[in-house]
Amino acid sequence: MRVDIITIFPGYFGPLGMSLIGKAAGRGDIEFTVHDLRSWTRDVHHTVDDTPYGGGPGMVMKPEPWGDALDAILPPARHPPDQLPDQPPDQLPDQPPDQLPDQPPDQPPDPPAGQSVRLVVPAPSGKPFTQDMAARYSRVDHLVFACGRYEGIDARVIEEARARVPVDEVSIGDYVLAGGEPAVLVMIESICRLLPGVLGNAESAADDSFGAGRDGAAMAGLLEGPVYTRPRSWRSREVPPVLLSGDHAAIARWRRDAALRRTAENRPDLAARLEPLDSRDAEVLSEAGFPVSGDDMAH
Ligand code: ADE
Repeated sequence: MRVDIITIFPGYFGPLGMSLIGKAAGRGDIEFTVHDLRSWTRDVHHTVDDTPYGGGPGMVMKPEPWGDALDAILPPARHPPDQLPDQPPDQLPDQPPDQLPDQPPDQPPDPPAGQSVRLVVPAPSGKPFTQDMAARYSRVDHLVFACGRYEGIDARVIEEARARVPVDEVSIGDYVLAGGEPAVLVMIESICRLLPGVLGNAESAADDSFGAGRDGAAMAGLLEGPVYTRPRSWRSREVPPVLLSGDHAAIARWRRDAALRRTAENRPDLAARLEPLDSRDAEVLSEAGFPVSGDDMAH
C-alpha cells in the first residue's frame, strides 16, 4: 500500500516509523511519504492561510498550495465512480480504459492498471470513521491524506479533487482537534494493522472490539472482554478458573458472557442492536440491567 500525507507539520508523523507499522514500512509493505504543504507555497513567508470570505473567526487554508500539492500527488482523473471497495482486491474492477488525451509532461505518472486511489480529508464535520471503513481502506492501493488546520481548507479544493478521485471527509469522533494530523495517525494505525502480515497473529484482528468475529462471527458486534496472562495469582487476585480449565466450549461461553456484560455497560447503543441472541445471552444481558424482548432472540 502507498500512503501520502500532506501537512504543515511533517514532524508529527515520526511515530509511523515505530512499532508494527514501522516494521511493515521497513519491509516495504507500506510506503509512507510525508509532504510539507509549505513546499507548494510561492511567497517568501510560505503562507498557507487567509481570512474567511463572509467574515467570522479563524483562518482558512488557501486553495493554491493545496491545488498544487494534489496535482503533484494524485493521479489525473481516470477513476471509476466513488465506491469504497468491499470485496477483496483481486475482485476489484479495473480502472476504465485510458480515454483521456495525452497528458501534459508535468502531470504525475499514471497509476498501474487496476490501482485504486482515495483522498481522505480529516474534519470534525466528516462522516464517522469506523472499523468497517478501516477494513475497506486497507484494500485501497493508494491513500492520500490531506491534513487541514485552522477552520479548514477552502472548499473548492475538495470539490476539484472530487472530479478526479474519490474523496472522503472523515471524522474520528465528536470532538474538535486543532488539526487533522492526530486523526490521520489514528486512521493509519487502524487501517495498516489490518494489512496482511502486519499483526503478529493473523487472527487477532478478528477478535477485536468492532472486529468481524471469528468462527462465523461468534463475537461480532460485541466489545472485547477482559484478558489475563501469567501469573495465575497476582496481589491476591486470581485468573478466572474457567480460563485454566482447558474446556474450550466453557471458555468460549465465559468470553461471550464477559463481552456481553462489557457491551451492555459501556455501549448500550451497540447492545441494543445485538442479534441473534440465545437464551444465555438474554440472561446475561438482563442481569446487566439490559432486558431483552422475545423478538430479539434466535429461534
Ligand atoms: N480535525 C479536527 N477535529 C477532527 C476530528 N474530530 N476528526 C477528524 N479530523 C479532525
